[in-house]
Amino acid sequence: AAARQELLLSRIRDVHDYPQRGVVFKDITPLLADPSAFAELTDALAELCARHGATKIVGLEARGFILGAPVAVRAGLGFIPVRKAGKLPGATLSQAYELEYGTAEIEIHAEDLAPDDRVMVVDDVLATGGTAGAAIELIRRGGAQVAGVAVLMELGFLGGRARLEPALRGAPLEALLSL
Ligand code: PRP
Ligand code: MG
Repeated sequence: AAARQELLLSRIRDVHDYPQRGVVFKDITPLLADPSAFAELTDALAELCARHGATKIVGLEARGFILGAPVAVRAGLGFIPVRKAGKLPGATLSQAYELEYGTAEIEIHAEDLAPDDRVMVVDDVLATGGTAGAAIELIRRGGAQVAGVAVLMELGFLGGRARLEPALRGAPLEALLSL
């Protein structure tokens, strides 16, 4: 596990002052470009899905699609996209959430969720927890259960874990790396 973490960490690039001055952006594109690192990441997230009894994967647009889709195939589970508002053609559930400045909205096709589904939310980063929290609300409002949230990395200094805690209602938040 330590070797895996070291490999993953070595393929994440710090980009200073992006997208704003003072922010250090965690760029996962070097990891995606390295097939063995990407496979390690996919395997690690698929293991978490199995451990927590997930029956479906929800991936969060956009970077959560890149990670969540191969995890779903690897784990043998269906994939459900949670998209930014206005992109899904069918009957959707929408959930607004807070950004640093203003609000954002994400949507899901409710018909893809069944009452006996246990859904794992997959994303690259947990920062403030706003996006993951909104995804949890969508899954519950769709009538399914939340198996947990699994991310490549958690930015501890932003306090997302604490903010997400009430929404999780005991479901696990798994981060492969805590930064
Ligand atoms: C980023 C990141 C997470 C989210 C984490 O997505 O990929 O989804 O922010 O932030 P939070 O915990 O504070 O909600 P973003 O919407 O910026 O861009 P993306 O479309 O590239 O994934
Ligand atoms: Mg994102």
